[in-house]
Amino acid sequence: MAKIKKIEAREILASGGAPTIEATVTLETGIVGEASVSYGASAGSKEAFLMLDGDKARYNGKGMLNAIENIKDVIAPVLMGQEGQQNIDKLMIELDGTENKSKLGGNAILAVSMAYARAAASDAGKQLYEYLGEIYSLDKFNKLPKPMVVMIEGGKHADQTTDLQEYLISSLGNRSASENVRVQMEIYEALKKILKREGLSINVGNEGAFAPNGITSNEKPMEYLVEAIKNAGYIPGVDVGISIDAAASEFYDLRNKIYDLRIEQRKLNSEELINYYLSWIDKYPFVSWEDMLSEFDWESWPTLSNRVKISGGNFKVIADDLTATNTKLLQRAIDEKAATAILIKLNQAGTVTETIECCKKARANNFWTVVSHRGGGESNDTFMVDVAVAVGSEYIKCGPTRGERVAKYNRLMRIEENLK
Ligand code: PGA
Ligand code: ZN
Repeated sequence: MAKIKKIEAREILASGGAPTIEATVTLETGIVGEASVSYGASAGSKEAFLMLDGDKARYNGKGMLNAIENIKDVIAPVLMGQEGQQNIDKLMIELDGTENKSKLGGNAILAVSMAYARAAASDAGKQLYEYLGEIYSLDKFNKLPKPMVVMIEGGKHADQTTDLQEYLISSLGNRSASENVRVQMEIYEALKKILKREGLSINVGNEGAFAPNGITSNEKPMEYLVEAIKNAGYIPGVDVGISIDAAASEFYDLRNKIYDLRIEQRKLNSEELINYYLSWIDKYPFVSWEDMLSEFDWESWPTLSNRVKISGGNFKVIADDLTATNTKLLQRAIDEKAATAILIKLNQAGTVTETIECCKKARANNFWTVVSHRGGGESNDTFMVDVAVAVGSEYIKCGPTRGERVAKYNRLMRIEENLK
């Protein structure tokens, strides 16, 4: 029995210093679950609606009091005495009634959905990942997700740096989670030395990755990563590979259908941009390319995926803004062969159930899942790690430093210890 007795919610601060929602669900048994939601800086247009107050007198309009009022006045009365994750999520989806949760706010709905999951898991005496695995009938996986770690960030996550948003290292091979974490941090330290040698700043951006000014090409960070992997004593492409998240929607000029690579003073159409990317294929040990094209440039995605394949690129094309953790959009990506992997963000979907359903569909269609943190408004909550473990995600994507990011890796290492 995990019936809801009380729901509370409040503003707390997310990583960027603006509010997010923390919800507390109390069950009739007296068991309590708490959770907070994350949101992005380079959010896609198809994500569940992030309800902000818009009241410029508070937090520059970024308060979440209206969404919190929706939890207290609209959601809580309907959920009293209710139980079961799928039931709770369904009730909230119906109560909202819109396609993108714009009536109650995706942030309001998700906070309650996550807090309920925590409460119900602890009521059942289970770890969160175990509970999720059980209620969604997920297969048991004997492998933990590997880290995909943002090492250099630009785009909207930093100031005056690369057009591409993220340069990442992705673990390869069969190391334990804690060994993967150690390796990534050793490479991070090696990268710090390289940047210093190059006269570049070692200040960090939104996601705890380096965000130096003055990099003059979008390719340069990949050279640094390969060198850092070697300097730390590892073999590029064997121990660790390279991933990129271009977040290309952010530098796409929709009206003129042109990608504006500001730091290289180049304006490229889709075909030219694809050729520009493909020139990197043989030079770097790629694991994945994410959002290399805009979410408003669907028709070019299948071309990119196909060109990667026929060029011998043995890595994944990940959709993030394109699919927004939405099963309908994922289905379209599958049908049109637009991608081969999907980024998973709880707040894009807006409920735990929809997030897991999206992961299930991905797996059933041989798409990789990469469960991800958010840029600007990450919370300290580690829920995403339990989701990644429960669904057997190939990777979790997160920044290397800052408390809200290392919390994810620390959770992963604790889960590994639990599983021993
Ligand atoms: P965001 O960035 O959270 O700012 O959208 C992360 C990503 O694009 O993967
Ligand atoms: Zn992305």
